[in-house]
Amino acid sequence: MQQQLDSSVPNYKLYNIMQKIISSNPPLLDYTSCSVSIFHFQPSTKPQCNMMIPNAKLYDRKPVFALNSKSHNSLNPKKHSICPAILDFRNPITNHFDTEEMAEEESCISGTRWSVKGVHALVTGGTSGIGHAIVEDLAGFGATLHTCARNEAELIKCLKEWESKGFQVTGSVCDMTCQAQREKLIEEVDFLFRGKLNILVNNVGINYRKPTVEYSAEEFAKLRITNFDSAYHLCQLAHPLLKESRKGSIVFISSIASVVSLGTGSIYAASKAAINQLTKNLACEWAKDNIRSNCVAPGCTRTPLVEHLLHNKEFMDEMTSRTPLQRIAEAQDVSSLVAFLCLPAASYITGQIISVDGGLTVNGFQPSFRIT
Ligand SMILES: NC(=O)c1ccc[n+]([C@@H]2O[C@H](COP(=O)([O-])OP(=O)(O)OC[C@H]3O[C@@H](n4cnc5c(N)ncnc54)[C@H](OP(=O)(O)O)[C@@H]3O)[C@@H](O)[C@H]2O)c1
Repeated sequence: MQQQLDSSVPNYKLYNIMQKIISSNPPLLDYTSCSVSIFHFQPSTKPQCNMMIPNAKLYDRKPVFALNSKSHNSLNPKKHSICPAILDFRNPITNHFDTEEMAEEESCISGTRWSVKGVHALVTGGTSGIGHAIVEDLAGFGATLHTCARNEAELIKCLKEWESKGFQVTGSVCDMTCQAQREKLIEEVDFLFRGKLNILVNNVGINYRKPTVEYSAEEFAKLRITNFDSAYHLCQLAHPLLKESRKGSIVFISSIASVVSLGTGSIYAASKAAINQLTKNLACEWAKDNIRSNCVAPGCTRTPLVEHLLHNKEFMDEMTSRTPLQRIAEAQDVSSLVAFLCLPAASYITGQIISVDGGLTVNGFQPSFRIT
């Protein structure tokens, strides 16, 4: 099975072929793991990224394939070298590169107003809470997704679950607070989705609840970088891919703390308010590229982020009594709006900040007695 790669084959086509080999039944490879290394195809360089593709396996316990993930055109023959365990990307029967597979260049967007079938999406922080629900909704509606998180074990667990549900989801370990890792993430997405991204969901967010005077400079920076800087930079990096798709949609996950004071901590609230403003600016600035930008602002939602609050009866009683719908949100209450905003059916909606809060933010004064 060892074979030098044909230098005339573009990356995305190799990816198609690799996918075919990976999913072949009976397997063409001795599958032993579920990790694929992609790296610049030079013997001296270290792996550039480590991307997990469900069901992708190591061949002979060595990287399945090696590519220059930056190149869209063709692999540079001068960079080639024979890797100890390079896959044979040729069709094992015809002994040729499979041109039928190569023909599938465009993501096949189905064209219906209520479908994301064939659409490519990146959802950050997809292994837990709201992000997890967004991945499941979009994948359930037929999108092909990439997600990321810091915890590798959790990511692998989620990818296996999604695979068993028949969802097309890949993932990368990535700390969104690190600029270099964000760049690597987009390189991977660029490669996986052949230079086009239809949906970017900026979901990652953290919080430390404290009185304003108690925040350290480190906490201030960590909150700001995680909640705002990372999303801003990811949009910059993703812009060429969104533009290339000709129908891009960005959805930010903000919070109702961005519009009303909730005692969540002032830095969190301010970082989310900055996201709201970014939403509006990108909506206007990138409309010419047919990229929409919207923002979902959840109220208190049952996820690990607010786990400690969910066990506090006093907090929960107060929260539900102030909420017209008398309950906190489930992650799916939020993800359904995100999915809607990504649909072609939402193609005239841009620049909006929409609360999913059971009516909390519109609940003013409700007298308990009737006034005539
Ligand atoms: N839950 C609520 O009540 C609520 C309300 C309003 C708004 N929100 C917003 O909704 C979004 C999702 O929150 P959630 O409640 O679903 O949180 P969650 O359950 O804690 O999930 C957060 C996800 O983001 C990932 N993540 C966190 N920091 C990361 C980083 N630096 N780099 C990469 N991945 C990172 C986590 O995985 P790793 O830990 O493995 O990295 C996890 O997958 C956040 O923006 C939050 O502010 C939540």
